[in-house]
Amino acid sequence: MASRWCSPFLMIVSVMFCGKTSAQGGGENLANIAACDSEIYCSGRLLEAVQNAHVFNDSKTFVDMKMKTEQDEILRAFDALAGSGADISSAEVMQGFLDQWFDPPGSEFEVWEPTDWRDSPKFLDNVADSSLREWGRKIHELWKSLGRKVKPDVRDRPHLYSMLYVPYPVIVPGGRFREFYYWDTYWIIRGLLLSEMTESTKGMLSNFAEMVERFGFIPNGGRVYYTRRSQPPVFTLAMRDYLDQTNDTGFVRTMMPLLEMEYNFWMSNRTVTVSGHVLNQYQASIGKSRPESWREDEEVASSLQTGSDPARFHANVATACESGWDFSSRWFEDSANISSISTMDIIPVDLNVFMCACEAALADIFLRLGLGDAAARYQAAVERRRSAIDAVLWSDQQGVWLDYNSATGQHNNRFYASNIFPLYTTCYGDGTAESDIERRVVNYLKRENVLDYPGGVPTSTIHSGEQWDFPNGWPPLQHLVIEGLASSSVGEVQQLARELAQRWINVNYRQFAKTQAMWEKYDVETGEHPGSGGEYDVQVGFGWTNGVVLHLLDKYGHVLRAPPISTAATVVLHRGALILSIIASISTGQLHFECL
Ligand SMILES: *[C@@H]1O[C@H](CO)[C@@H](O)[C@H](O)[C@H]1NC(C)=O
Ligand SMILES: *[C@@H]1O[C@H](CO)[C@@H](O)[C@H](O)[C@H]1NC(C)=O
Ligand SMILES: *[C@@H]1O[C@H](CO)[C@@H](O)[C@H](O)[C@H]1NC(C)=O
Ligand SMILES: *[C@@H]1O[C@H](CO)[C@@H](O)[C@H](O)[C@H]1NC(C)=O
Repeated sequence: MASRWCSPFLMIVSVMFCGKTSAQGGGENLANIAACDSEIYCSGRLLEAVQNAHVFNDSKTFVDMKMKTEQDEILRAFDALAGSGADISSAEVMQGFLDQWFDPPGSEFEVWEPTDWRDSPKFLDNVADSSLREWGRKIHELWKSLGRKVKPDVRDRPHLYSMLYVPYPVIVPGGRFREFYYWDTYWIIRGLLLSEMTESTKGMLSNFAEMVERFGFIPNGGRVYYTRRSQPPVFTLAMRDYLDQTNDTGFVRTMMPLLEMEYNFWMSNRTVTVSGHVLNQYQASIGKSRPESWREDEEVASSLQTGSDPARFHANVATACESGWDFSSRWFEDSANISSISTMDIIPVDLNVFMCACEAALADIFLRLGLGDAAARYQAAVERRRSAIDAVLWSDQQGVWLDYNSATGQHNNRFYASNIFPLYTTCYGDGTAESDIERRVVNYLKRENVLDYPGGVPTSTIHSGEQWDFPNGWPPLQHLVIEGLASSSVGEVQQLARELAQRWINVNYRQFAKTQAMWEKYDVETGEHPGSGGEYDVQVGFGWTNGVVLHLLDKYGHVLRAPPISTAATVVLHRGALILSIIASISTGQLHFECL
């Protein structure tokens, strides 16, 4: 395996990565590195027995359960059970064991109503269309049902939980979520700031700071089994947005060491050098199945062709999770089958865009704090990033940026919405050529026929069956595409941004009228939410969807119009507030939901 990780060819492009691998694993073999050190939640005989016995349909159920007593006692009891000749491959036997030693999942959060929620946030006054304004008010109301606080017992006895304790309340992505997630929170915070909920925001930023202090970076989500992978780095961007809204330099000043610590993690543990240019990659060095998706991972790993390394497969899967795009043809060598996943070889456009935005935000914040030297240091980082993105990710042939495979030295020529994200930053152009680049990028979008869908820009043009592919449209991707185009100085490009904003509003508005809910993602062809053909459970949601819609209402409120909807749907829309509060009480009541 070492040869696969640090083959001579890879060594050329990837000196830093190979250098760090042994350090990070402490010289350990990748195959021995689990998602965390817990012998209950991340690896070990009990976890394997429970998952292999198929006690629950959803692998995540077990790893979210609370231990009734100390881990060692539970493991001793399990050894005794196995030694007694009991059939530990039987679901009934294992269920009996779990009933004795574990509590059901979903008991760590208590409902919390945000104390800074107020009735009429100002931004709504600028929404010209009265139906949209009314809808925006209802979305604003959703925050009230998405607040959660971790119970004090998790703080007092953390060793009994997989949950990570955070001291301040959080707004969760959806009513059924049992923990917070990293990058979702960025768009939730965008929405909260428009809703003038600055105290809630400050608490969530403080939680992130606590995570950086504890782990050196921000984990994928609030569970121990997420603590060896991160997610797209958006902490600094959220902090800058908070500063814009509040001018709270006192708080932000205390946060700077932690923002820099997170930045340094990405620059020392997640980089690769190509022809002298330093770029970032997602890299989660975990060589075992994800505890929360154990059976699914084991199944694919066991079907791999002989000669392929299961540990490497698991690391590529964990790395795809770190990217936020789990899963996508983007990470598959053959663009179709997860068994060909090779995320660790890829230098993603979007990650380098997030890093550029982070560098620019650090420069900006330091300047506002009166710390010119630090600001200059990060401004220099922006310039280096601009050169690196231009040298490695820009394809002059296609007229767009493309992911680059550091193992093959090739661009990935397929369309992904992330290909145009650099428009969102200052990391392109040289001060004169921006509008040429922007026009070329729009031509690229036209050539790829991705502007033709009624429901917005698709994630990709590949029908892989994975959720980060066609025909799904995701709120954060729409936001970055629209924002990137909108920041152009070219009128035609700005106009396209407005059109895409209207389309995304149409889809969200119509689905809300029909289902009284905001959804995690939408189908760009039909405008429905995926899965709406069959049965589905409505859940109160959805944080990033709400955040992006509120942002678009704020930005384009003077020109957006509510789309026509059927009369039946109109009635439902007006009853929406009542129905929503009923849903909220269901989702926050005693019912336990199994999966996300
Ligand atoms: C588990 O999945 C099977 C097959 O899809 C289904 O029949 C069964 O009802 C599910 N069990 C639970 C508890 O959801
Ligand atoms: C980053 O890599 C260094 C070795 O280069 C290692 O010591 C450190 O633990 C890593 N940090 C994190 C947070 O994984
Ligand atoms: C924050 O401070 C800047 C500069 O002093 C000022 O222009 C801006 O209006 C202030 N914003 C708020 C929300 O107070
Ligand atoms: C994916 O690849 C694996 C192993 O190469 C194979 O067993 C499986 O059938 C493939 N799946 C699809 C849907 O082609």
